[in-house]
Amino acid sequence: MVVRIPAVLAAAELTTLRDQLGVASWTSGSATAGFQSVAVKDNQQLPHGDPLARECGALIVAALERNPLFLSAALPRHVFPPMFNRYENGMAFGAHVDNAVRQVPATSFRLRTDLSATLFLSAPADYDGGELVIQDTYGEHRVKLPAGDLVLYPAGSVHRVEAVTRGARVASIFWVQSMVRDPIARELLFELDDSIRELSAAGTARAPLVRLTGLYHNLVRRWGDL
Ligand code: NI
Repeated sequence: MVVRIPAVLAAAELTTLRDQLGVASWTSGSATAGFQSVAVKDNQQLPHGDPLARECGALIVAALERNPLFLSAALPRHVFPPMFNRYENGMAFGAHVDNAVRQVPATSFRLRTDLSATLFLSAPADYDGGELVIQDTYGEHRVKLPAGDLVLYPAGSVHRVEAVTRGARVASIFWVQSMVRDPIARELLFELDDSIRELSAAGTARAPLVRLTGLYHNLVRRWGDL
């Protein structure tokens, strides 16, 4: 399931992030590439532990925690501290699959990557190329979103970032370990939650809505892990 989550960041937050990242010290992205991806990864990123990256990351995590669509789609148990990357002058990231396990730098904490996320920070008009291309059973999804929008996709899917041929593409990327490990169960819950929300907005009678909501929570109890 590939899910777009619009306007994760408010305009003021986006401006703050852009201002801060505009003065950041970018380094080669190959430093954190795994065995498989080092040959195809050509971008820049902020080093782990960079205070600016940590500050910007905290702002993003706070925005995610109050976003109902993100919470419903991801059912997050752990969110990896957001990283920041930048592509310009033909930089690209060839086809790869993200590592199944990620250790949070400077800690002993490891997280299973169920979902990958890209939060677009540059406006699409500011660069050419740079599409995130995600392969799934339905074919290829070419994703290039307005600044402040997020895409969530299965971390196990083959994906790539096309070469940026004009301007610069700045984004934040991170991974989520979900309470619900099974992607099909997670998708069913997302669908159910969305239907309940829609029925509720349409003014459906309260009693069946309470039962449906109970069904949702009981399925989370059955399928979820904390
Ligand atoms: Ni990746």
